Order: sequence, then C-alpha cells, then structure tokens
Amino acid sequence: MQTVRTSEELTEALAETIRQSVALVPTMGALHAGHLALIAEAKRRADKVVASLFVNPTQFNDKADLERYPRNEADDARKLRDAGCDLLWAPSVEHIYPQNFATTIRVAGVSERWEGEHRPGHFDGVATVVAKLLLSVLPDVALFGEKDFQQLAVIRRMAVDLNLPMEIVGVATVRENDGLAMSSRNALLSPKERAKAPSLFQQLSELAEAISGGSSADSATKSATDNLLRYGFGPVDYVAYVDGQTLEPIGKYREGGRVIAAAFLGNVRLIDNVAVK
Ligand code: PAF
Repeated sequence: MQTVRTSEELTEALAETIRQSVALVPTMGALHAGHLALIAEAKRRADKVVASLFVNPTQFNDKADLERYPRNEADDARKLRDAGCDLLWAPSVEHIYPQNFATTIRVAGVSERWEGEHRPGHFDGVATVVAKLLLSVLPDVALFGEKDFQQLAVIRRMAVDLNLPMEIVGVATVRENDGLAMSSRNALLSPKERAKAPSLFQQLSELAEAISGGSSADSATKSATDNLLRYGFGPVDYVAYVDGQTLEPIGKYREGGRVIAAAFLGNVRLIDNVAVK
C-alpha cells in the first residue's frame, strides 16, 4: 500500500486508476473493526480503495477533545494494508487548510439539531473537510459508518445539493459482543464505564421496539433518558425519535425513522442510533 501526503501526489497515484472504479473511505484514524468493515464494503464496490487519514481540527468544538484524540498512523497504515486498502492519503493540517483558507460549507436544516446543537460548528467542519476529500479523490463511491447517523445525513444532503458526482453509501454499525457500537472513543472509557456503556444500545433497542409497538415517542424517549441517568450516564444530551433523512423529530411510528442518542459516561461522550422497523 502506497502512502501519499499532498494532493499532487494523490492525483498522480490516482492517474493509474483511470479505467478502474475508486472507493474512498474517509477516516480520522484510530481504526477499529467498524472502519475495516467500511474498507471491506469499499472493496466489494470498487476496483481500488483509497482511505484518507486526517484528524480534522475544524470539527472539534472542544480543544481538549482534539488533543486527546488517539493518533497512531503506523498502526493505522498496517491495519489498512492488511485489510487490502490500495492507497492511504494522510495529508497534514497545513495541506488541507493552507494559509488564507477561507471557505466553510454549512448544510442547513439537517445539521442543526442534536449534534449540531451540542457541538456548535461541528458539522461545518465535517462538511467542509469531506467536500475537500471527495473533490480531491473524486471517487465513484464514498463510504461512511451509520454510527454517525446525523453526519451521514448531512453528507448525503451536501452531495445532492452540490451535485457531487459520487455515490454516498452508509454502512451498518459494527458492535462489540455486548452491543456497544465500535468507536475510537471507547478506548477512553475506564473499566467501570466500559461495563456500563452497552446500556446505551440496550435502551435504544428497547425504545425502538416500544415505538414500533405503538408507544408515543415522547413518553418512550423520556423513560429511556431516565433509565440512562439511573444506569450512571449523564448528562444525557438527547434521546430522540427522528426522520431518517431530515433528522426532524417525529411523534409516532413512521417508516424510515431512527432513534438516536448522545450521553456522557464520565468525560466520554457516546453516541448511537437504531433503526425503528
Ligand atoms: O467520521 C469521521 O471519522 C469524520 O467525521 C470524517 C467523516 C472522516 C470527517 O473528518
């Protein structure tokens, strides 16, 4: 697997794939089985797989969170190579955001509630960097995990609005045996917090079942929130039942809805979501 750092090297490396299809898997590193599932799906969908590794400072609204974000490029490169990735693009911050960089992409509506409310500016940072990554690689398909469900909806909206010429694919969340969604942040949980963490998925699964069984979203989300607080989570930023495309809240079962949640365990903020079938 070749590693490139600048857009010029990237374009040169991609020139060889002129008659081949290309898939892009954007990452911030600290790779786990969830990322490797994206690489596996990318390999099924395209001839060549490019992964980007860039810890994007503009999507962190909390400086301490950016500083403690796990970084290990050598380890990540080895995992990508073993998974069959063809090209790693690992640009520097200065390369992505050179002096005088002045453009921000803001996706109105779908980015505003939930994560948007609790992490001001986060989705502007995500949309801007993802647009740069997509336009630099110009893949046929780009793959994102469903764990960051609102992020996926924001990227889909942006790709449609800007006529970005690639397919955006969401890949199902990969979970630990006890149900906890794989996340680079799980490594920051203490053993006690790690033992409590699967309750988030359990509560969301029960909430999804209650709503598909006819319960009102209001009362069911309230009891899921109370349960999370009782199990040691807190603060609970939100638990909600939303439309899967617009992320607007809905009150009763509707096809394509999703339950979503974000809550702290100690200093670690966990998010998760479950489809309501
Ligand atoms: O989901 C992530 O890892 C990041 O938000 C992304 C999509 C790579 C943009 O920095």
